[in-house]
Amino acid sequence: MIYLDHGATSYPKAPGVSAAVAQFIDEASGNPGRGGHQLTITASRAIEDARTAVADLLDADPERTLLGPSATFWLNTLLYGRLGPGDRVVTSALEHNSVMRPLRWLQARRGVDVVVVKGAASTGVPTPAEIQDAVDHRSTALVILTHASNVSGAVLPVEEVARRVAPTPVAVDGAQTAGTLPVAFSQSGLAAFICSGHKGLQGPSGTGIALLAEDFQIQPLIRGGTGSNSESEDMPPILPDLLEAGTPNGPGIAGLGTACTWLADRTVEAVQNHERALVERCITGMRAIPGLRLAGWVQDMAQTGVLSFTVDGEDIGELAAWLDRDRGIALRAGLHCAPAAHRRLGTFPTGTLRVGVGPQTTEDDIDALITALEDRCG
Ligand SMILES: Cc1ncc(COP(=O)(O)O)c(C=O)c1O
Repeated sequence: MIYLDHGATSYPKAPGVSAAVAQFIDEASGNPGRGGHQLTITASRAIEDARTAVADLLDADPERTLLGPSATFWLNTLLYGRLGPGDRVVTSALEHNSVMRPLRWLQARRGVDVVVVKGAASTGVPTPAEIQDAVDHRSTALVILTHASNVSGAVLPVEEVARRVAPTPVAVDGAQTAGTLPVAFSQSGLAAFICSGHKGLQGPSGTGIALLAEDFQIQPLIRGGTGSNSESEDMPPILPDLLEAGTPNGPGIAGLGTACTWLADRTVEAVQNHERALVERCITGMRAIPGLRLAGWVQDMAQTGVLSFTVDGEDIGELAAWLDRDRGIALRAGLHCAPAAHRRLGTFPTGTLRVGVGPQTTEDDIDALITALEDRCG
């Protein structure tokens, strides 16, 4: 199979990930932080080692590197924990539903003022000045932006936004960029960076990360056991315990730590260059195919390893099914959980076919896709 759906999740995982998952299950399945016996201590060590590997890769403070089930969980925790009646939140038109759905709920049920900055007609990418104009320092509690569109791969200028709107906190959904673009959180000026562990970071499903700046607090979405301060019926005030209630996904976290160590060795810059070259090769091939349209793409835009397209006269669902069945090429067709982005890019309601490359994708994989598209649509 030629797997080109890295925008959804990575496959295959980084070398060593499945062994680390199995090793945790076989040798470290105590409940971390709960009790003092050997198996619990081994589990705690494995989790803290993984936390350090994640924090080192993303240049963050390990104590403020929070591990949980998904980017969605942390985005919801952040939004429900920070926004209340009368608050304004500024966001882009390219957001995933893991940001848009909580925001629309907060708008309808808690009176939060949601301002969506439309951005450029061609790409939906807002300029820092457009975001700044939407920020009213008295009422704006948060700016939340995706770091890159999961539909088109377009990268947003999040650090420049943070500089311009300070002291308004800027939180970033880095689900599409962690592990594929270099991230140096401590230098970024961002209040929070949230990402999946299972996409660019090459870890197992069921893992997600929140990085919080020193002066940025969020309230827990869920409360429960932490193994610390057990005499109290309130959550412990210290991080990461405050925001990590319940037994963690030890096997997944151990796998994530191994994936981050592998990425650190290979370097994220090398992955970025590899993916960039593959995307350019793909775009060059696609632009020669009659009727094929790239969605939300302009020449020389900053882009991840993701791109989207449609083909005139082709049903994209059928095209995806044919690529899978006849050519063994896995792509995703549809709205990619980002209807707002498709509305902005003019591809709503049918959506696009999305290509997502990864560290182990090859030029031959891209050439096979282009040949298949030429055979079917050329
Ligand atoms: C931009 C973006 N944000 C958030 C998410 C949600 O990530 P997770 O699957 O880790 O909850 C995704 C995943 O598709 C995404 O692409």
